[in-house]
Amino acid sequence: MLSSADSATALSSLVSPPFKHGFKHGSVLLQKDAAEPLRLGVMASGSGSNLEAIAHAIDQGKFNARIELVIYNNPRAKVVDRANRLGVPIRLLDHRTFETREALDEAIAQALRAAGVEWVIMAGWMRRVTERLISAFPGHILNIHPSLLPSFPGVRAVEQALNAGVKITGCSVHYVELVVDSGPIIMQAAVPVLLDDTVETLQARIQVQEHRIFWQAIAIAAQQIVKNR
Ligand code: GRF
Repeated sequence: MLSSADSATALSSLVSPPFKHGFKHGSVLLQKDAAEPLRLGVMASGSGSNLEAIAHAIDQGKFNARIELVIYNNPRAKVVDRANRLGVPIRLLDHRTFETREALDEAIAQALRAAGVEWVIMAGWMRRVTERLISAFPGHILNIHPSLLPSFPGVRAVEQALNAGVKITGCSVHYVELVVDSGPIIMQAAVPVLLDDTVETLQARIQVQEHRIFWQAIAIAAQQIVKNR
């Protein structure tokens, strides 16, 4: 079993084979002058820490993108304060006010289209999406999940990993398909499980890695140029 100190050196991130060429472990920077900024729409139900990490990567010039709109579904979600602090437009589409999942997804698709969004980023979106949203942005919807997929899809992934007794878990960024957490994987980061981990401590270390890889995976999916530092 690894100590906390060992865990830092044991971390690694992996990208899927089509993107491997020229990619080495460690930090990457993306060329800023690649093209027009990617137009992102973010869907979030929770605290929005991944939204903030993406916004910071953009602000720091690592990632050529713009957050056009954040959609959230829970009026009490902390993502609202974060989006306001970051100065990104945010809109509530409360799932309880829609009769069906399809009706909610139709409203989301319309709002994102009206905002000019080209890439849909599910950053802690806690609702199952339907064909209505998927067909509105074919091949352009990405999700982050707190496990090394295909292990532990669905809810409470961190708890699932702890209960299974795995020694390494992590996070995955993948394309969204109809079956939850099933689409092609773009990028993953590994996180060692420590002897004294709780769901909270493990989740916190996984989130550090989520914040590191999410924007890189979006850039890779959009085929922005990745170069080694
Ligand atoms: C992340 O851990 C992500 O993996 C999961 O939901 C969480 C969202 O966290 N899908 P935050 O709202 O971005 O802080």
